Amino acid sequence: MKTVIHIGLLIVSTCLAKAQNNTAENGKDIFEHKCQRCHGSDGTKGLFGAKNLQTSRLENMEIISIISKGRRGMPRWEKRLSPTEIESVATYIKTLRK
Ligand code: HEC
Repeated sequence: MKTVIHIGLLIVSTCLAKAQNNTAENGKDIFEHKCQRCHGSDGTKGLFGAKNLQTSRLENMEIISIISKGRRGMPRWEKRLSPTEIESVATYIKTLRK
């Protein structure tokens, strides 16, 4: 039982450490390279029915899940971006909100 708790703590602390390295700047870079062609630099382009990211009000977990797994016209990125990169880009797109 103790080991389970230890492993749990280890996972939590690794996640926290990752979250701290997660800069919006890095997320912007990823966005410009991978997301902008459909979503536009300000999030409103809407190519192929891409959602307007300025008016999106999804929770962090949902954003991460949609970026990872995709949804309809939205490609899945879990094989092309690391979990840290997905978190950075999720952080960045929230800065586009009005
Ligand atoms: C090939 C075009 C395309 C690319 C590239 C693309 N998306 Fe999307 N995205 C879409 C489409 C289309 C939807 C709407 C999906 C639906 O109808 O459920 C969407 C939806 C989303 C949503 C959900 C918004 C909401 O409020 O429902 C998020 C978040 C998102 N995209 C983020 C990203 C990020 C981050 C990237 C880059 C890693 C990206 N997208 C790259 C087409 C794209």
